Amino acid sequence: MSLLPTEPTAVPGPRSAEILAAQDKVFYPGLSSDGYPFVARSRSGWTVTDVDGNVFVDLVSSSASVPLGAGRAEVVEPAAQALLDFGNEDSHAVFHERMLPLATRLLDLAPNGLTRVDIALNGTESVETAVRVMRRATGRPVIIGFMGGYHGETTTTAGLGAEQSEIGRGLRGVTSGFVHVPFPNSYRSPFGSPRPGGTGDATVDFLRDHILFHVVDPAEVAGVIIEPILGSGGVVIPPDSFWPALTSLCQEFGWLFCLDEVKTGFGRTGEVFAADLWDLEPDLLCLGKAMGGGVMPIGALLGNERALGGYDDLSTGSTWSWLPAACAASLAYMDLLEREDVLGNVRALHAVAVAKLCPLVEQVSQVGDVRVQGAFVGVELVVDPVTKERATALQEAVAEGCLRRGVLVASSTTSFNIQPSLSMSPEAYAEALDRVIAAIEEAVA
Ligand SMILES: Cc1ncc(COP(=O)(O)O)c(C=O)c1O
Repeated sequence: MSLLPTEPTAVPGPRSAEILAAQDKVFYPGLSSDGYPFVARSRSGWTVTDVDGNVFVDLVSSSASVPLGAGRAEVVEPAAQALLDFGNEDSHAVFHERMLPLATRLLDLAPNGLTRVDIALNGTESVETAVRVMRRATGRPVIIGFMGGYHGETTTTAGLGAEQSEIGRGLRGVTSGFVHVPFPNSYRSPFGSPRPGGTGDATVDFLRDHILFHVVDPAEVAGVIIEPILGSGGVVIPPDSFWPALTSLCQEFGWLFCLDEVKTGFGRTGEVFAADLWDLEPDLLCLGKAMGGGVMPIGALLGNERALGGYDDLSTGSTWSWLPAACAASLAYMDLLEREDVLGNVRALHAVAVAKLCPLVEQVSQVGDVRVQGAFVGVELVVDPVTKERATALQEAVAEGCLRRGVLVASSTTSFNIQPSLSMSPEAYAEALDRVIAAIEEAVA
């Protein structure tokens, strides 16, 4: 018997179609064009039910911000109690008793060397603060970002990011101080092998030999901000040669090394933080999304003494950062992370995705690459395996085929990602991936 809900009858159903048409007249058009073609009524576990009664399997997890499925009572209840006790509190002005336990808990979980916490409302705000902190701590203006990287959509974070040109449209001429280097991507590397006598990694060779020679003096660089695994940019996993080469460059020039773990953090990759996959010790760590247990918005910037300890004259954050309910949700989620062997389940999900999806690269010529790390999968669809030209129309057809089969995937201009709930059972995940495979087979036929 199937573990999944039955496939939807029609998407959008009549009620969704009616509401979507009315929404089109009211919302900013850029919002209307982005979403799935249905209107949600409720969520339960890893399913989403729409206003027509269709039930979808959620392999997106609200952009990876809902780690353990919808509204877990163990997380909602402490948050609700904190709302009853406080409503909002501006945690910059009135410190409340959940702040210190949360900060201490984060520092305990985080990579070695991090000793300070700044509070943030969400991932975007934590990256905004990281950019300012890096400039303040070093007195240097330039930050190195990576092509394919996504860090948010405010002026600063979209200027730092370079996932796709559309996000930076209108910003490149007005945001300064960001220099971009290709993200280390074995499937789409613009470079050959590392050069003899170089850093040991082709991307870092390029950074050292070309960027630092032609574009920017290393003494003007505050540091690098990088996702340890590209999230929205397609679950790209750097080769092992990259991190030692990058971190020694940072040491050589006194750059700060900032990891953006807004998407990878809190279990998604099979470790609490993706930094743990390579034993990385960043100077700064940006957090958000799953930190709120899928229930409340919250973010944080963690830093070592050099990055975040030596000054107090940078005013940061915003009114709702670390409201008591968000702190309560976050603490409750961290309890669950420990109690429920979430990481063990993520590793089981990893094995399912590897077994089901990786063989497609050999079997289906338009599946160019499949990358799996924990409960995080990127599939690259290509027109031709030799040219590797992106097959955007095919990708859309696959995403649409998934939707018809009642499965939500994260399909964007740059990526086709799968990011299930970290607590989905491996058996249900296997069935959901069978539906994704059926959609791929149908679209390429
Ligand atoms: C790596 C990364 N950084 C920052 C952000 C911004 O986080 P938020 O949109 O939750 O504020 C995101 C959001 O997708 C992200 O994936």
